[in-house]
Amino acid sequence: MRPFKLVLSLLGAFGLFGGAEAFTNPVRNPGGSDPQVTYSGGYYYLISTTWDNLQLRRATTIQGLKSATPRVIYSDTNPSRRCNMWAPEMHYFDGRWYIYYTAGNCNNLDGQRMHALVGGATPWDSWSYGRQMLNEWGIDGTVVRFADWGNYFVYSCQTGVQYQSTCVRKLGSDYISTTGGLSIISQPDQPWERSGTPVQEGANALYFGGRTYIAYSANYCWTPDYCVATLEWNGTGNPASPSSWTKSNGCVLSSANGHYGTGHNSFFMSPDGTETWITFHATSNPNGACDDSRYALVQPLRANQNGTPNFGIAQGPSYNWPEPSD
Ligand SMILES: *[C@@H]1O[C@H](CO)[C@@H](O)[C@H](O)[C@H]1NC(C)=O
Repeated sequence: MRPFKLVLSLLGAFGLFGGAEAFTNPVRNPGGSDPQVTYSGGYYYLISTTWDNLQLRRATTIQGLKSATPRVIYSDTNPSRRCNMWAPEMHYFDGRWYIYYTAGNCNNLDGQRMHALVGGATPWDSWSYGRQMLNEWGIDGTVVRFADWGNYFVYSCQTGVQYQSTCVRKLGSDYISTTGGLSIISQPDQPWERSGTPVQEGANALYFGGRTYIAYSANYCWTPDYCVATLEWNGTGNPASPSSWTKSNGCVLSSANGHYGTGHNSFFMSPDGTETWITFHATSNPNGACDDSRYALVQPLRANQNGTPNFGIAQGPSYNWPEPSD
């Protein structure tokens, strides 16, 4: 980072600088449920749940995302998957972009399944339907990468278990299928993840300080207790084995400063690769929300003294965050 930019960033960090180098939250309101921001080729891309289609926005700054024109990149007419399109996530493998998303029928939520779209070399290229990835109920799918074990598809499941839990299957070599059996690696069995109804959902990989985590959302979304918690991989064990994972001792990102139900996170690296940033949603409704009133927020992760991630605290709408470091 150049010295001049460092000064601007520090000013931004202390909320003293309101210019092009700073941004304020939320970055999308309403329509910010289940948000993912990713950075690629000079652009930040934002995608979130818009129910009857998938929309992408892009801009060269986080602040710019707020006024970016949405592009509808996908909609469907197939009755089994044209409604309740949730939690789209972009992932890049072998020169190509993929989107994993949840969709189902228009009558109820029993038909929610994971599906994949196939894109091009940049997220702004055209997208086409890939395939259905699960034959059982499953939502909020994502991929976690392990150097020695390969790629695992991680999602919120309800097969062979009473409450929405965290399941994994091996990701196929085509990146749009799953192979092998289902493994339940974690269940909402702690008192702090059973508000409303016990739930684990919204998983996303966090690679931080040389460790691999799954950051997920705990509790029911129509409660202010909806929050982020983590599972930490032990670094060697089979990712499909529950004993390879350790759950956090409670929420790591919770309601604060008028933001309720802080959850459904994703992560991206700053353009210069030095900072990890989190994107998540919240609502101003003190009872929590599961609907389109939720907005998307972006903030940096810091490292605790022992190297573990510090998710920070959601700040109010006048707080100036420095743009990610480039
Ligand atoms: C990680 O977990 C596996 C069980 O899945 C266990 O066999 C292994 O010893 C653990 N490794 C460490 C470093 O704790």
